[in-house]
Amino acid sequence: MRNIVILISGSGSNMAAIAQTAQREQWATKYGAKVASVISNKADAAGLQWAQAHGIATDVLDHKVFANREAFDAELAKRIDAYDTPQSPALVVLAGFMRILTPGMVQHYAGRLVNIHPSLLPAFAGLNTHQRAIDAGCQFAGATVHQVTAELDHGTILAQAVVPVFLNDDARTLAVRVLSQEHRIFPQAIAKLLAQNAIK
Ligand code: GAR
Repeated sequence: MRNIVILISGSGSNMAAIAQTAQREQWATKYGAKVASVISNKADAAGLQWAQAHGIATDVLDHKVFANREAFDAELAKRIDAYDTPQSPALVVLAGFMRILTPGMVQHYAGRLVNIHPSLLPAFAGLNTHQRAIDAGCQFAGATVHQVTAELDHGTILAQAVVPVFLNDDARTLAVRVLSQEHRIFPQAIAKLLAQNAIK
């Protein structure tokens, strides 16, 4: 069995979309994969409750109690690696996980660490993507699923979705439109990786 470990910081709607797709499309039978754990760096992340209600193991690791990024990542890696199996290392999915990982951490999970970013990368890496797209006068915005590398919001693009930006949009209305597409492309991109057996 390939365990999928999903890291979140907030509402976890992408995590829920992935878990629901895994169930509906029977990833366990098709790919030998299951969403095994959801880990949040915030104890009040709403996604934790959703995961618990759906029988997924949850864990909280508050980054604020660690002296530095390296110490936090070391403990996080320990908890994730508990989901490696003798057959396969865990697939690690960043689904609204708002922490930057150290290069050592990224290296440890190279080839099996994916992220979703709410812009059409390489445009608008970083924060406040929707406001920045509106301010730049973009007529289209979107989301990108990509492999994680040491450089923030870079790495091989696995999937993208495009949405229109309307004249009366604000960051909130645009975010809702983009998020609905995230829920479609993120599970698809993961299923594709699993189907291709592309994870090292
Ligand atoms: C999503 O829009 C995701 O793309 C974004 O946070 C939101 C999480 O929503 N991620 C980033 O900005 C990462 N830099 P969710 O918790 O409902 O899935």
